[in-house]
Amino acid sequence: MLRTPGAVRDAERWTAHNYHPLPVVISSAEGAWLTDVDGKRYLDCLAGYSALNFGHRHPQLIAAAHAQLDRLTLTSRAFIHDQFADFCRELAELCGKDLVLPMNTGAEAVETGIKVARKWGYQVKGVPAGQATIVVADGNFHGRTTTIVSFSTDEDARADFGPYTPGFTIVPYGDLDALTAAIDENTVAVLLEPIQGEQGVVVPPEGYLPGVRQVCTERDVLFIADEIQSGLGRTGKTFACDHEGVVPDMYLLGKALGGGIVPVSAVAANADVLGVLKPGQHGSTFGGNPLACAVAVEVVRLLATGEFQRRSAELGERLRAGLEGLVGKGLVEVRVRGLWAGVDIDPALMSGREACERLMERGILAKDTHGSTIRLAPPLVITEEEIDLAVAALAEVLTA
Ligand SMILES: Cc1ncc(COP(=O)(O)O)c(C=O)c1O
Repeated sequence: MLRTPGAVRDAERWTAHNYHPLPVVISSAEGAWLTDVDGKRYLDCLAGYSALNFGHRHPQLIAAAHAQLDRLTLTSRAFIHDQFADFCRELAELCGKDLVLPMNTGAEAVETGIKVARKWGYQVKGVPAGQATIVVADGNFHGRTTTIVSFSTDEDARADFGPYTPGFTIVPYGDLDALTAAIDENTVAVLLEPIQGEQGVVVPPEGYLPGVRQVCTERDVLFIADEIQSGLGRTGKTFACDHEGVVPDMYLLGKALGGGIVPVSAVAANADVLGVLKPGQHGSTFGGNPLACAVAVEVVRLLATGEFQRRSAELGERLRAGLEGLVGKGLVEVRVRGLWAGVDIDPALMSGREACERLMERGILAKDTHGSTIRLAPPLVITEEEIDLAVAALAEVLTA
């Protein structure tokens, strides 16, 4: 008897329905492959929304986690542990920044960035107390806290969670004139995803990010790049900002930083920015814990080799070629950066959800986003043959 239907029923019975998962129940995984409770194998084309850039159970990361579990798992930041400095130094070096502040989830990194920018605004820029504003883009996704959903333009994410946190100005994504016009003397930061992942892998027009960098410098405003999904190899470079040679004032990182094992996020910035925080002003019990640091430092070392960025860039071209071949054959548009693709299906054919259900039947797991868009973000350890498999399955789904 198949175990999946009962396991799906139980999961639905005992949890809040804040997600609508595909009806698949995974019990083990390795590399780019997942196995369900009935022994069926699936190619992972979501990679935990990029939390699994290095694949499931990467041997170097698993070994680091095992070794750390046997020695020390948690101290809190009341004490210093022996994994902490190496992680912070190596991540700071990867980012080209002076300092790192480790947290756990992506949303916490965003909240940290907002708090640091406001404090910097009052203490360094001289904004009058309580007046700081941050410019953000429509279509953004930065997480789920009450402050973050306050500046979401997605009604599902926002409705009924008010009262909302003030201090944010929303401008159209990719429109440099609108962004420039929104900046005034009380603006402390511009917070952007260099590519909007949840929105469907939306890449801004060329020149936008360098333009944002320039206007932020000219107007004494911090440029905060939320690279939580786009960063750490996903787009074929260490950071999505690298594609246009842009260096933000603050990187927000998460997801892949935890190697698919533990939640690890971080803010990286220079001392004139992160230095505004003093003891007692911000923190997290689990932030920068020994297990997290032991895994995340190995993630940084994997990235420091450049191998994963190269794979993502090279294999991304194969993914692009495959997907572009389907435009006009069921696909309306594709947007690809490295191993990250937003795929717009002809809405007359099916919804993104239906496409993902049909892909699942063919052993491919992907995730829909708004309407008829699906997102492909396979682990960066995927092979050429596996990419071809995913593209062939999509072609079948579109014509079946
Ligand atoms: C760009 C971006 N920022 C922030 C987050 C929030 O991360 P978390 O779910 O770990 O809080 C996400 C998650 O999808 C994201 O894509």
